Amino acid sequence: MDAIRTENLTKKYNLGWRKGRFLALEKLNLRIPEGEVYGLLGPNGSGKSTTLKCILDLITPTEGAAWIFGVPATKVESRLHVGFLPENPYFYRYLTGGETLEFYGQLCGIRGAALHRRIEELIELVGLAKARDRRLAGYSKGMLQRIGLAQALIHDPRLLLLDEPTAGVDPIGSRDIRDLILRLKQMGKTVLLSSHLLAQVQDVCDRIGVLNLGQMILEGDVDQLISDQRRLSFTVEGLPAGGRGQIEQAAQAAGAKVVGVEHPQTTLETLFLDAVRQDKRGAGEHD
Ligand SMILES: Nc1ncnc2c1ncn2[C@@H]1O[C@H](COP(=O)(O)OP(=O)(O)O)[C@@H](O)[C@H]1O
Ligand SMILES: [Mg+2]
Repeated sequence: MDAIRTENLTKKYNLGWRKGRFLALEKLNLRIPEGEVYGLLGPNGSGKSTTLKCILDLITPTEGAAWIFGVPATKVESRLHVGFLPENPYFYRYLTGGETLEFYGQLCGIRGAALHRRIEELIELVGLAKARDRRLAGYSKGMLQRIGLAQALIHDPRLLLLDEPTAGVDPIGSRDIRDLILRLKQMGKTVLLSSHLLAQVQDVCDRIGVLNLGQMILEGDVDQLISDQRRLSFTVEGLPAGGRGQIEQAAQAAGAKVVGVEHPQTTLETLFLDAVRQDKRGAGEHD
């Protein structure tokens, strides 16, 4: 069964008297099967948050409809098994991490020993054990996003909607959030996340869709989208002098053309993460 389905989902925002309406989302047809991690990509203002809010019925679509596990989004029951991390989550600064989860757990009707067990599990899952008794006022952006994720998971939902989960978070914090999303996938959860940071989505999503000006302009399997099927690259070590010419000749003899020869590059992100990890004093403000 599809965890999420939308049909011609369209949203026009009223801009006020005589200003007309702004078309923020146009005829979106999404299908996200259960267990998939789906990335909704697109530049700022392309309609990502609008999509998530329509699916959650936080705003009413102008046309079209959405279903969550087959239940129309207009019904309250559709959200029973959904966790949501909004774009700019607002938390009480004076509560500690543990108290924050207690507050949201109680809102969900979880109490007593069951709630304390759940909080223990989640604090461990998001890696905030050391910070659980510190007030959120002292948390970094990455830690806030992780407590936000724990909040979204408090009632053990089957589906998670995460709006820009790594926005404003440094590379280490982003990596932690990415790892966490991968663990959620292993636990069998379905995740719909939005992002404007492409590199971060690559490792974590099974499928992506790209929105631009409210329209889906590209959709597909991540591995297929990023592999260039017409080309093949080899990385060779210990090549003796003259070896390069031989390889080029062999390629020509096979009817192919060498279009690029280069030293493999690492990414800045890998360099950055390695350097910080190797620093024996620890990694910045992290925990
Ligand atoms: N309440 C609103 N009233 C009018 N326009 C809005 C409103 N919310 C969003 N928009 C506009 O709709 C477009 C899509 O917004 P949004 O879904 O927040 O984009 P994204 O999340 O991809 O950055 C933007 O141009 C934004 O300015
Ligand atoms: Mg947004």
